[in-house]
Amino acid sequence: MCDHCSPCYTAQFPMTDQNKQDKAVYTPADLEALGFDPETDLGFPGEYPFTRGIQPTMYRGRLWTMRQYAGMGDAEESNRRYKFLLANGTAGLSVAFDLPTQIGYDSDDPMSMGEVGKVGVAIDSLEDMERLFDGIPLDKISTSMTINATASILLALYVAAARRAGADTRKLSGTVQNDVLKEYIARGTYIYPVRHALRIITDMFAWANEHVPDWNTISISGYHMREAGSTAAQEVAFTLANGATYVEAAIAASLDVDRIAPRLSFFFNAHNNFLEEVAKFRCARRVWAQMMREHFGAKNPRSWMLRFHTQTAGSTLTAQQPENNIVRTALQALAAVLGGTQSLHTNGFDEALALPTEEAARTALRTQQIIAYESGAAQTIDPFAGSYYIESLTAKLERDVLALQEQIAQQGGMLAAIEKGWVQSEIQNAAYEYQRSVDSGEATVVGVNRFTRDNEPGVPIQRIDEELERKQIERVRALRMRRDAARWQVSLDRVRDHARNGANLMPAILEAVESYATVGEIASAMREVFGEYEESVVI
Ligand code: 3HC
Repeated sequence: MCDHCSPCYTAQFPMTDQNKQDKAVYTPADLEALGFDPETDLGFPGEYPFTRGIQPTMYRGRLWTMRQYAGMGDAEESNRRYKFLLANGTAGLSVAFDLPTQIGYDSDDPMSMGEVGKVGVAIDSLEDMERLFDGIPLDKISTSMTINATASILLALYVAAARRAGADTRKLSGTVQNDVLKEYIARGTYIYPVRHALRIITDMFAWANEHVPDWNTISISGYHMREAGSTAAQEVAFTLANGATYVEAAIAASLDVDRIAPRLSFFFNAHNNFLEEVAKFRCARRVWAQMMREHFGAKNPRSWMLRFHTQTAGSTLTAQQPENNIVRTALQALAAVLGGTQSLHTNGFDEALALPTEEAARTALRTQQIIAYESGAAQTIDPFAGSYYIESLTAKLERDVLALQEQIAQQGGMLAAIEKGWVQSEIQNAAYEYQRSVDSGEATVVGVNRFTRDNEPGVPIQRIDEELERKQIERVRALRMRRDAARWQVSLDRVRDHARNGANLMPAILEAVESYATVGEIASAMREVFGEYEESVVI
């Protein structure tokens, strides 16, 4: 046995409950075996295939956007939290909406009972939207809105509120998540059947390109599929396959790929396996760049760039010993930075228990600031480049992603794979395997199945005012009494007409929100025409 080659070296350190990686040491031989070519596989930051990052200067030119996801209760309470975050150093807003807003019901709809303002802010009308951003200069800050099935309505509300505040709406920058495919797969806040949902999305692509050209029209998300238990390779493969489906839908709607692709954005999870996560982000950029240039024939380099937001993994937060979550989140955030994220949310340590308190939100933001200003991690671009392990792992993930995408193609594409429930069952199987490994003790969760502690002291948690639902219901009912009924009726009829006759929905939706039609009324006008999605049951 020699004492320097990888197989022999690994044989000296067999797999144990610490050594999950199949090899103990990587050497130049691993890169040779890969046929690793720095010219084609790596390139330089800001150059195709963007493995090393999408900007030539990355964080030396501009740090990632510290963008904390927040929203709770009513518009005033959320406005207070945004101003708190801005005062503590966030550089962008990220709005969380309550479930009724996300699935198109007004606060006074029986379907909304008990959910108003719970997991995000309750937004029923333009009045609420103006309150939400009161005193915040929308032409000077970018705003992300985590909204999918009702994204067209919330984008119209945002533009209308900005216009009312005197902002130049052509200069508005931000993002709507607007990724309904992952809602059918893993999150569930869908409304319309797939075909109609894709039509609304391509209407938004076309309208935004003309009216709010700096707006990112979609945030194609892997985050929630990972939270549902997918592997890193599945997260990338299914997200990019969804991305390709949106590009195909845009092309089918006669939109030029180089007109819409520069404003597609992505959203990934930063999970626990630190080095795998760094390799995952590098792999995703390379696969997307190749898909856009080679498969879709995009000519504009901005069409090849995978620009993404990252959120640290909510599913890894534990209710036990919650302070441990500060460490988990810090490691996950560092992986996102070393992986080249454009925007980052760090979870509050208490979020396994409730929405984050101000204290927890501040610590989460300070985590990003320590990484940015104290760790040195922002000073060198893609520091893992050339690493025997990271390049091997990036290439391995790329092979796994391409193999999964081949399986999707064999099923007739992502829409067919979702309709069949194949994507959902792949994720469920991965989730089951992980949970089995935790239950058996094979996978360690510190504080949960090892290194536990009796009599845990509690931590303060964020409470939502129970009165809020009643007050929000009164608000939306009073609005209905005050508005110009004739103008409201005409505007809603126009939404129905555009839904039926195929005219772009956005101008009609914008007119409806400015006539004080509510989110639920507009969403239901489209329900009357499109119907609702029937979920395929995965057995
Ligand atoms: N040199 C030169 N220019 C640079 C630069 C550099 N080094 N770095 C950045 N820039 C430029 C960019 O090109 C950009 O200009 P452009 O718009 O003209 O291209 C500008 O500076 C801003 O930079 P980014 O676009 O990189 O950063 P943003 O933060 O504005 O955008 C994004 C990032 C990923 C593209 C965008 O889509 C975004 O902000 N996404 C956020 C999504 C989000 O927050 N989602 C939350 C979801 S929460 C959820 O779903 C979980 C819940 O369900 C539990």
